[in-house]
Amino acid sequence: MRRKGSKDKVVSNSKMVENSFAEKQLNNFQPEFDMTPKSPKVYIRTFGCQMNERDSEIIYSMMIQEGYTPVSSYEEADLIIFNTCSVRKHAEDRVWGKLKELKNLKHGESACSGAPPMIGLVGCMAKAHGKEVFKKLPHVSFICGPSNIYDIPGLAKKVKSGKSHLMSISKEKRPLSEKRDEYREEKIRAWVNISYGCNNFCSYCIVPFVRGREISRRSENIIDEIKRLVDNGAKEVTLLGQNVNSYKSPTGKSFIRLLEEVNRIDGLRRIRFMTSHPKDAGLELFKAIAGLDKVCEHLHLPLQSGSDRILRLMNRNYTSSHYLKLIDNLRKTIPDCAVTTDIIVGFPSETEGDFEDTRMLMEKIRFDSAFIFKYSPRPFAKASNTEDDILLEEKKERNQVLLGCQDKITRKKNEDLIGNVEEVLGISIAKRKPSSSEYPPATYIKGRSRKNSLVVYKGSMGLIGRILNVKIRGVEENTFIGEAV
Ligand code: SAH
Ligand code: SF4
Ligand code: F3S
Repeated sequence: MRRKGSKDKVVSNSKMVENSFAEKQLNNFQPEFDMTPKSPKVYIRTFGCQMNERDSEIIYSMMIQEGYTPVSSYEEADLIIFNTCSVRKHAEDRVWGKLKELKNLKHGESACSGAPPMIGLVGCMAKAHGKEVFKKLPHVSFICGPSNIYDIPGLAKKVKSGKSHLMSISKEKRPLSEKRDEYREEKIRAWVNISYGCNNFCSYCIVPFVRGREISRRSENIIDEIKRLVDNGAKEVTLLGQNVNSYKSPTGKSFIRLLEEVNRIDGLRRIRFMTSHPKDAGLELFKAIAGLDKVCEHLHLPLQSGSDRILRLMNRNYTSSHYLKLIDNLRKTIPDCAVTTDIIVGFPSETEGDFEDTRMLMEKIRFDSAFIFKYSPRPFAKASNTEDDILLEEKKERNQVLLGCQDKITRKKNEDLIGNVEEVLGISIAKRKPSSSEYPPATYIKGRSRKNSLVVYKGSMGLIGRILNVKIRGVEENTFIGEAV
């Protein structure tokens, strides 16, 4: 599954994707509020990671409570929100570009009042750039950092009353309670934050500076949220944190204890989590994945580099042999656990030899899929003080080599799966049918296996939300074609 719009990424089960919530969401959105033509309209465009996806759901929920209706295009909207990512310069450049285009949005194109729409730049870029945003983009009405998202309804009200260039980026910590369920991207699967922020300070990374220090939510709040989701039809939850392994509830509960509690929730069928850090993941976690029936056999474990020298410079606090040993233990505990990863090429001073160490480690480990990123110097991050000395051409070349290497591994792994029977959760109707589909056209269901592979199989609407055994008959571009058995 190569993701739309990103050249850096290779086949991956991990979800780091730019999307428009409204586009996806409007299909299954059931409004329980005033939908008269006069209600103002809100459009959110989301960039970045799963935390931003969840934050956009929370923002939509708050705006619905304020009487707004979500819409699927910015031309219709009275309030346009860009929920942004700063992790690489490229991610930011796309937002600068898109927001610039909105400057030309003419008065009167906004559906409701004929006035120009309010524009909010929200998320990590707001925190990273502060009031500089208004210098670059004077038509932006307000900016709001990721710890301040609960201020958005108030900001929108103030803008409506005539104020502009408002900022809310100051808070270090965000409120831990998240009773915001009015709007969810999907009914069957749901994101659930368990912690915010990060304390790891990897030398290349801006996240601790924009998301703040790590704080964990109370386990009771997390459990309550999941129970509410299950009551509303959720079958699968993904527990989210920049480093889930360091989760510690205010009463001292560890991530493993939390997993055990979530596993006991009646009606919930599957549990996923991300992201794990190799310095904190270990045998106890692997035993939990093996022993807890709802926890799926998939671990996203970013490697970043196979060179010990580069790992040290990255402040990752593990070595390549530690990482190898982890994978060894994981596969001894759960032989067919899917393992996915993130890798950065072209970190400052990365030699051909360092790069070769990464390539060889990838060949040895044989990940199920990998995101490969070209190093991008970020403000605040320690490595940005070091010269970005690897030429873009060289970064591109290294990126291509690793993409090719992973592609071969993924192909072989995919072929090996043909003939297996996988437990698949039906998610939605498949838009793209298998090339071998017969005439008259049948309905195909899109589902996910426990290892998070995409599987398409013949069926009916009734299979959405149900778990079935599906025999894998073939594979087309990383989508498995199966048959319910
Ligand atoms: N907390 C998660 C995710 C962090 S951001 C983790 O630790 O894995 C997701 C990925 O973006 C990282 O794993 C890393 O591979 C990549 N990344 C972060 N900063 C980057 C930078 N400055 N340049 C290129 N890639 C970067
Ligand atoms: Fe960034 Fe490292 Fe924290 Fe992940 S663990 S968010 S890469 S600082
Ligand atoms: Fe991007 Fe912020 Fe997530 S920088 S990766 S949206 S935490």
